[in-house]
Amino acid sequence: MSLVSEIDYGTPEVKAEKAVTLSIDGFAVTVPEGTSIMRAAMEAGIQVPKLCAYDMVDAFGSCRLCLVEIEGRQGTPASCTTPAAQGMVVTTQTERLKRLRRNVMELYISDHPLDCLTCPANGNCELQDMAGAVGLREVRYGYAGANHLKAEKDPSNPYFTFDPSKCIVCSRCVRACEQVQGTFALTIDGRGFASHVAAGMDEPFLGSECVSCGACVQACPTATLIEKSVIETGQPEHSVVTTCAYCGVGCSFKAEMRGNEVVRMVPWKDGKANHGHSCVKGRFAWGYTNHRDRILKPMMREKISDPWREVTWEEAIGRVASEFKRIQDESGKGAIGGITSSRCTNEETYLVQKLVRAVFGNNNTDTCARVCHSPTGYGLSRTFGTSAGTQDFDSVDEADVMIVIGANPTDAHPVFASRMKKRLREGAKLIVVDPRRTDLVRSPHVEAAYHLPLRPGTNVAILNALAHVVVTEGLVDRAFVDERCESEAFADWAEFVARPENGPDAVAAYSGVAAETIRAAARLYATGGNGAIYYGLGVTEHSQGTTAVMAMANLAMATGNIGRRGVGVNPLRGQNNVQGSCDMGSFPHELPGYRHISDAATRALFEKEWGVALDPEPGLRIPNMFDAALDGSFKGLYVQGEDIVQSDPDSTHVIAALEAMECVVVQDLFLNETANYAHIFLPGSTFLEKDGTFTNAERRIGRVRKVMPPRAGMADWEVTLAIAKAMGVPMDYAHPSEIMDEIARLTPTFTGVTYEKLDRLGSVQWPCNEKAPEGTPIMHIGGFVRGRGNFYITEYVPTEEKTGPRFPLLLTTGRILSQYNVGAQTRRTENVVWHDEDRLEIHPHDAEQRGIREGDWVRLESRVGATSLRAHITERVAPGVVYTTFHHPNTQANVVTTEYSDWATNCPEYKVTAVQISPSNGPTEWQKDYEDHARKSRRIARPPMAPAAE
Ligand code: SF4
Ligand code: SF4
Ligand code: SF4
Ligand code: FES
Repeated sequence: MSLVSEIDYGTPEVKAEKAVTLSIDGFAVTVPEGTSIMRAAMEAGIQVPKLCAYDMVDAFGSCRLCLVEIEGRQGTPASCTTPAAQGMVVTTQTERLKRLRRNVMELYISDHPLDCLTCPANGNCELQDMAGAVGLREVRYGYAGANHLKAEKDPSNPYFTFDPSKCIVCSRCVRACEQVQGTFALTIDGRGFASHVAAGMDEPFLGSECVSCGACVQACPTATLIEKSVIETGQPEHSVVTTCAYCGVGCSFKAEMRGNEVVRMVPWKDGKANHGHSCVKGRFAWGYTNHRDRILKPMMREKISDPWREVTWEEAIGRVASEFKRIQDESGKGAIGGITSSRCTNEETYLVQKLVRAVFGNNNTDTCARVCHSPTGYGLSRTFGTSAGTQDFDSVDEADVMIVIGANPTDAHPVFASRMKKRLREGAKLIVVDPRRTDLVRSPHVEAAYHLPLRPGTNVAILNALAHVVVTEGLVDRAFVDERCESEAFADWAEFVARPENGPDAVAAYSGVAAETIRAAARLYATGGNGAIYYGLGVTEHSQGTTAVMAMANLAMATGNIGRRGVGVNPLRGQNNVQGSCDMGSFPHELPGYRHISDAATRALFEKEWGVALDPEPGLRIPNMFDAALDGSFKGLYVQGEDIVQSDPDSTHVIAALEAMECVVVQDLFLNETANYAHIFLPGSTFLEKDGTFTNAERRIGRVRKVMPPRAGMADWEVTLAIAKAMGVPMDYAHPSEIMDEIARLTPTFTGVTYEKLDRLGSVQWPCNEKAPEGTPIMHIGGFVRGRGNFYITEYVPTEEKTGPRFPLLLTTGRILSQYNVGAQTRRTENVVWHDEDRLEIHPHDAEQRGIREGDWVRLESRVGATSLRAHITERVAPGVVYTTFHHPNTQANVVTTEYSDWATNCPEYKVTAVQISPSNGPTEWQKDYEDHARKSRRIARPPMAPAAE
């Protein structure tokens, strides 16, 4: 194994129809018009020395190291800023060029510390390489003159240091922050000799606008910006390409290793979802893998009030099997079930639903997608015919107008947000539909054309009003609708949305959005060129989540914005593999590939492969499992990689259900909140410890590759196999690739997927089959998967969750960049420096009315429960709306969320809860008890320790 090497072509790839041919050092090279001479040379395998050029950012031409000679031209132009031209004759190596380059390097080195042997970049430093490449042998100017060698280091960022004494002011970092990340946190301050890199207002990185994406660190050719992990561990010696295990963007990374130790995670330039970019989570927040809280031994206890007892894998698996069998013997086959994980691989998820259907003999399998994107599957399959987004991420480069609704990509899907921001800087227009003024509404060099700050719970009304404008102002794409959609359904829908009660004036009265803003936004989307919709949980986690998904699909079809690049309806998936866990048949009514369990032909296929008879009746959804547990008919649950106590609504109800069960088995990395109510705990494995695949929000299947052995001895897929075997139905797979082979045999959209193909192509987007052997980046080209697109009537039905005198404010929830979901992983990394507690955002007007000041403790109460947290007073939220994140278990926002859910899928209504806010003295009673309770229930009985050696 060796380090995966990536060529730096010096300047970005150019896409042009016309090509030019030039001669470089006597070789003919053909490149797209507009390509730099430097890149043309690199493509021909000729390396021109360079320092300030880097192929992720535009050329700058400051270092003068890349000089070349061009026949017929005077001087020595910089090859990075000079475009190749037809017939050009270029020479990259002459005596004059050598001399000039050596002079340049001499100047650099005369103001650079000569500590190469102890420098953390030693062996991986472009300055060092260039000194060698130009043949520098002496520095005639000496080192005594004015210099920057004593410049002070900035170690404030938890993950990287900034050592200006090593800086060559090449501005690669500044350009990366602007062009790749889109944050504009860095500048070159001062002039001439005094010029230097400054973060924010020349302040420490930690205090600046820097979001710690790492783009500048990656761009830096010296040790000026370098990962602290490299300083501590040394340079890596081999690398493995894998996929980030955080959000649904699915970034590819090179895990750079020394032995079994991760030195750093570097975004992979060939990764098709991220093209070499990353965010703070994937890039830096992997330290939880080695966190001391990891549970590495299986544990059991008789009662949940007992302390845990460490046991062997055999004993734990044996107990799982015997308990599940006992429960089924006593209470029936349907008394147990399983919950799959959207953090685990496709192969692991597939195995858990197989365990439930083929071994437990029922269909009581569900997934956390139930609580996030289940309305996406339902809504898009009814309208378009596929339960997934329609585009690849690259499609955004061709969008002219974007609607971002109920999503906060800069925090939740940061790498895709950077792509969006780039497109917006190029001139695309943006419409944000969100109760909060998110960063996309206004951030450096980006400003939304329209912000529709709707009242939580009125998505459907706003979408209908947008459609009303499209229909009544003659903005429908008739040709598209006539050719591609069900005409009767369209006519019914058009008549419905055209009714006055769906018009902007009527909707403005209760949505909080001015009628003129709705009209202007609708006109822009319908007439502004390619219109793309991107949405998140702010759409789905409502009592009308499915209706809103259908309303977006209606809008896209009516305006012809589907079936080509730059358009589409695109769910931004929360967890890394939430798309995959749905694809793999995690829902109780669907086998892998979204085929209904009642379909005899599909069942027969699986029965033949699995050698068992399958129950044709759909099983229990998660909320039904809880209700059945409280009824006494559901008694055993296997939860893989999911913290249902923290992530499901109405925590009190969830806890009561778990307490009522006889055998709760939790498999996770850490003793999560659900484990407080478990009888058996099985250690989980991280994405670094296993092979498999994740499927991202663009339906892209990417490889997860093992870089170290599972710390607990078994990968998650092996644990599920062991349970199946212990229950008497062995499943034989030597490697996850064999599980994928089975998935491909049984799932029409996966028939062309193999590990060999994934290794060869990097990743593929399903459908991947005979018709599309290399996958399908854009869906519904030429025709919808279901045949003709179907319009649905999307009547707005206000949620039953209403504000009133007791609970006058509406709470909505979301994520913050540095944390992820319930925080199990990110809270165990340095990311806590940015967010160590959940806070309540409240508008100044609402705060003043209640006598609340910045940082005060406040009580957040709904009719279901109460919690306390500290207040942050901000105009990001509108009056009447409050907002919080849900990353910390000692806050547990879900204590206050209600039992209301989506009519079609039971997806909980997390985004609308009527609440009251009042000043408080600190944590509530349950919060005070929390640490104590958690500590007690986590007690682990260990054998007496031998005295420590002196
Ligand atoms: S880490 Fe990212 S956001 Fe921060 S300065 Fe570097 S490029 Fe900019
Ligand atoms: S910090 Fe690195 S990338 Fe930025 S100007 Fe200095 S040497 Fe160049
Ligand atoms: S954007 Fe998502 S997938 Fe990419 S590095 Fe960040 S968390 Fe990981
Ligand atoms: S690499 Fe071309 S001027 Fe620096």
